[in-house]
Amino acid sequence: MLKVGFVGWRGMVGSVLMHRMREDNDFAGIEPTFFTTSQVGKPGPEIGVDVPPLKDAFDQDALKALDVIVTCQGGDYTEEVYKPLRESGWKGYWLDAASTLRMSDEATIVLDPVNRHVIDAELAKGAKTFVGGNCTVSLMLMGLGGLFEADLVEWMTSMTYQAASGSGAKHMRELLSQMGTLRDSVQHELDDPASAILDIDRKVSASMRGDAFPIENFGAPLAGGLLPWIDKAMDNGQSKEEWKGGVESNKILGHGASPIPIDGLCVRIGAMRSHSQAFTIKLKRDVPIDEIEDRLARHNDWVKVVPNEKEATLRNLTPAAVTGTMSVPVGRLRKLAMGGEYLTAFSVGDQLLWGAAEPLKRMLGILRE
Ligand code: HSE
Repeated sequence: MLKVGFVGWRGMVGSVLMHRMREDNDFAGIEPTFFTTSQVGKPGPEIGVDVPPLKDAFDQDALKALDVIVTCQGGDYTEEVYKPLRESGWKGYWLDAASTLRMSDEATIVLDPVNRHVIDAELAKGAKTFVGGNCTVSLMLMGLGGLFEADLVEWMTSMTYQAASGSGAKHMRELLSQMGTLRDSVQHELDDPASAILDIDRKVSASMRGDAFPIENFGAPLAGGLLPWIDKAMDNGQSKEEWKGGVESNKILGHGASPIPIDGLCVRIGAMRSHSQAFTIKLKRDVPIDEIEDRLARHNDWVKVVPNEKEATLRNLTPAAVTGTMSVPVGRLRKLAMGGEYLTAFSVGDQLLWGAAEPLKRMLGILRE
């Protein structure tokens, strides 16, 4: 039985991973050990099988005893622990949710419904480091996998509408506090149907711009607005989130030598945990829309093609419909006015499931095969 250590299992992504593993009875086939950065010796979590007391996540000897380490602890932990562990000669599998190692040569980005062939080829070569992709990238490829599989994409843009969860748990709380603060600032006026909407709007704007508005985590008001910058700046005008869209997609697809141009703008919106994206796709040829829908729908078990109709779209293609589910709906499919080779599409997906925990869970499953 594989000896598997879990680090960062109590955080948001880690908790989703634990939940999904319990749901699918994944702990039954492994020997799990749970690690901690603060509660060494305390009892491990209830997962349906016996587990030893929590071990120190920085104890190299304890880590070296494992066949697999699954970490959702974050980039700082990876920075501190990974290299010394490898330098000590540890040859186990490192499965990581953090972005730190993603673009390094020794790491494979995992999204097996899309790149199982890449994963298998790397495993056959002896690869030991497997990292989950950026959430928008994984969700984009889950949704549009059928087009890439058929080599139909000449280039594409992805304009994102990213949920608060991508920044972390504190940000989700801050978004709700911002929403509540806005509501509270006009409670009296909302209760009075005769109040003037422009007065309400003025008060809401004043609240949003006021010193008391909670922006400690986002740095700006998100509720009632949006934030058109995610992550650090690159030196070419892209945000790092936008850069990841191109480099990670091509790495996942195994297109190292001839990358497909993929670029766009990444925007944070006031959704809780589902990322949405609008795509402009330049196809290599004018493919009929029914063939496109068919290719998309057949690619994997989770993508769902939503008819390009208002009712179906509002029912199925929103964060409210998708959050907490494994579905990745793709809709608004139509050719653009620029011509038959120009396709637009819109997708939504849970940022914590296919966007974070699920690819790692499934990679652990592949190691157990
Ligand atoms: N970087 C993503 C975001 C989340 O900020 O939404 C993790 O992939």
